[in-house]
Amino acid sequence: MNNLHHKRIVLGVTGGIAAYKSADLVRRLREQGAEVRVVMTRAACEFITPLTMQALSGKPVHTELLDHRAEAAMGHIELARWSDVILVAPASANFMAKLAHGQADDLLSTLCLAAATPLLLAPAMNQRMWLNPATQDNVALLQRRAITLFGPAEGDQACGETGPGRLLEPVELVRHVNDSFETQLLAAKKLLVTAGPTREDIDPVRYISNRSSGRMGYAVARAAAETGADVILVSGPTALDPPERVRRLDVITARDMRDAVMANVADTDIFIAAAAVADYRCIQIGDQKIKKTNTGITLALEKTPDILAEVANLPDGPFTVGFAAETEGLIENARSKLRSKKLDMIAANQVGNGLGFEGDENSLQVLWEDGGVVLEQALKEKLARQLINVVAERFYEKNPAQGH
Ligand code: PMT
Repeated sequence: MNNLHHKRIVLGVTGGIAAYKSADLVRRLREQGAEVRVVMTRAACEFITPLTMQALSGKPVHTELLDHRAEAAMGHIELARWSDVILVAPASANFMAKLAHGQADDLLSTLCLAAATPLLLAPAMNQRMWLNPATQDNVALLQRRAITLFGPAEGDQACGETGPGRLLEPVELVRHVNDSFETQLLAAKKLLVTAGPTREDIDPVRYISNRSSGRMGYAVARAAAETGADVILVSGPTALDPPERVRRLDVITARDMRDAVMANVADTDIFIAAAAVADYRCIQIGDQKIKKTNTGITLALEKTPDILAEVANLPDGPFTVGFAAETEGLIENARSKLRSKKLDMIAANQVGNGLGFEGDENSLQVLWEDGGVVLEQALKEKLARQLINVVAERFYEKNPAQGH
């Protein structure tokens, strides 16, 4: 499964002969759909030029901590927040020593200290340096802090010696980074997710709908699949490709969506309703195109079935997560939906300023009966992964027998 699509990767490059391989690494990560921003240490710039990395990443390369222009555009804090993961390849013995002891005397080491995202290191150095007890102590310290190391490989070295210390090949590193996004948090759990808008016909050429692109719901389905869940995505009309390892059921109307959900809800562990279901449909749908006249027309509408409320009220139903898209009174309205529909959790998004519908980014206030958490503005893909973590935590708290 390609987990790198839309992922934001900071690639740190430190000084070492293997730095030339990081050029190929950038290319391969981008081929898999990742966005890459390169941060180079001064020593790295002796081995490979920032210009090469800029051309391959398609983005300016970051080299200086105290550069006013760079800090104004995307400084170390922004880079840390932006990243889904930081990969340092090659990671020199000196860099690992600095990291182990919390030193922050250049952009890359400062960024690593400031980041809350996973840190992956691909060491590369002379085999004696790697085997030196000082380096091995640093490696043990870093691993205790849940920093992941890929490699090094054994073999012939540029210095003429043979042993452990070679940078893993870019193709292997890409596979490891890809796999690092897979967790088994929801392994074998069944998730049902709704996404996108519904369309309610007025006549054969017109319909009532809304601005949902489906992106938030698709990102949720993809993030759930990354955690090992079996995911069914019930999708209204969108222009999106189905995420890998997700079974997509296409529907048009709210009634179709309700039927597809109810036909698949048995045995579902978690139901997440990210769809923007039309609240009303026409009582009477014209068989022919309604003719334009000189006067206005009135459409008589009736309510559509409330899919989320129906699922939440099933006896022995799944753990139920709703969404609330609001233009005002975000928390009050979301809390009221949480209670009235008897949900386990609701993810509230403020609509406007490019957030909520259609855009690439969103922010969510996730609420449950006695608590909540704010998920700060980020790409919908990143938010979806954070949301799935929160959902999983609450799901296991409610169902301890389901284990994890
Ligand atoms: O698709 P994108 O462009 O990425 O935009 C994402 C989004 C804004 C659509 C998404 O994040 C979101 O907020 N989805 C829910 C939008 C919505 O319709 O909210 P609501 O407050 O009207 O409905 C509350 C909840 O009830 C939702 O979970 C909705 O799926 C569900 N519902 C509503 C009506 C209905 N008839 N049946 C339902 O199941």
